Amino acid sequence: MPGAIHAEGLVKTFGEVRALDGVDLDVPEGTVLGLLGPNGAGKTTAVRVLTTLVQPDRGTASVAGVDVLRRPDEVRRSIGLSGQFAAVDEYLTGRENLRMVGRLYQLSGREAKRRAGELLDRFHLADAADRPAKTYSGGMRRRLDLAAALVVRPPVMFMDEPTTGLDPRNRQQLWEVIQELVAGGTTLLLTTQYLEEADHLAHDIAVVDHGRVIARGTSDQLKARTGGERVEVVVHRPEHIPVADAVLRGFGDGGSAVEPHTRRITVPVSGGARLLAEIIRELDARDVGIDDIGLRRPTLDDVFISLTGHAAEGAGEPDGRSEQQRERQQGRQPGRRQGRPQGGDSP
Ligand SMILES: Nc1ncnc2c1ncn2[C@@H]1O[C@H](COP(=O)(O)OP(=O)(O)O)[C@@H](O)[C@H]1O
Ligand SMILES: [Mg+2]
Repeated sequence: MPGAIHAEGLVKTFGEVRALDGVDLDVPEGTVLGLLGPNGAGKTTAVRVLTTLVQPDRGTASVAGVDVLRRPDEVRRSIGLSGQFAAVDEYLTGRENLRMVGRLYQLSGREAKRRAGELLDRFHLADAADRPAKTYSGGMRRRLDLAAALVVRPPVMFMDEPTTGLDPRNRQQLWEVIQELVAGGTTLLLTTQYLEEADHLAHDIAVVDHGRVIARGTSDQLKARTGGERVEVVVHRPEHIPVADAVLRGFGDGGSAVEPHTRRITVPVSGGARLLAEIIRELDARDVGIDDIGLRRPTLDDVFISLTGHAAEGAGEPDGRSEQQRERQQGRQPGRRQGRPQGGDSP
């Protein structure tokens, strides 16, 4: 059964530019697909096709089981769209904006008022609710835009780069709101240039470049496919380096790298955390004391570079956050240990 969002063979050209060059997508109900790609990859065009704003040259698509090309009006009734086409009226207050959207969607006056109040609370806008939207900060505008898209509780949502240009605090807040939304069962297609955002929010990721999907899978699958998982061990005593090195090479998939001055040995592996436990047992059996041991996994940045040969634009330091801040943020993701693979033979 096709998912809540389904597309096959979408092609869209603008003059010489093939903005979409045969895109297939499938988003199961209640899941989040992250459409990840650099500027100009075709993300917005894909969203515009799926939300009935642009006609593709070729291909088919359905949203919530309804054909996008044949029954666009019906599709529009079951989706919410937020992002690069903010529908917010600058001169109205936040509350007025939301009530107006409710009325547009045929809610009763009372229901529109109630829904506006509920959304203003949920999006941390209650204090600013009665100020004109033009006085809002960028983060507040983005939240109001998202709230407007949610007035009628659409089962399928599209968000086009929802956090581009936001500072870390606002980005974090928006992520929380998006996570709540998804926990409520909404199907979401989200575009982003930020690998970390896709990693954080998306169940599945489709990497797009030049109008094509060049890879898809979960964040973990994409990382595994890229390879580059390594075990790093720091032994306590320098004289233990040779025996530890022999043990690690026994478990590894390739040659080891030894840094005598730091007593660090690194070896590429596939087998993850279970292998780590075996290595610890083996080193212990040989009386090798260890100061540190860890599994270093590739990041989505590594994945993107290995797939496309270039970094995702805007990724890395999208908003001037320091490396330290990013690490703190990554540190909050349970069960994830992200570190760049060491050594010179990365893919
Ligand atoms: N209305 C348009 N007219 C001409 N070219 C367009 C139009 N919309 C998009 N493009 C081009 O199509 C390509 C994909 O654009 P877009 O879908 O906006 O990418 P993204 O959202 O990933 O940055 C780009 O080269 C862009 O310049
Ligand atoms: Mg875009």
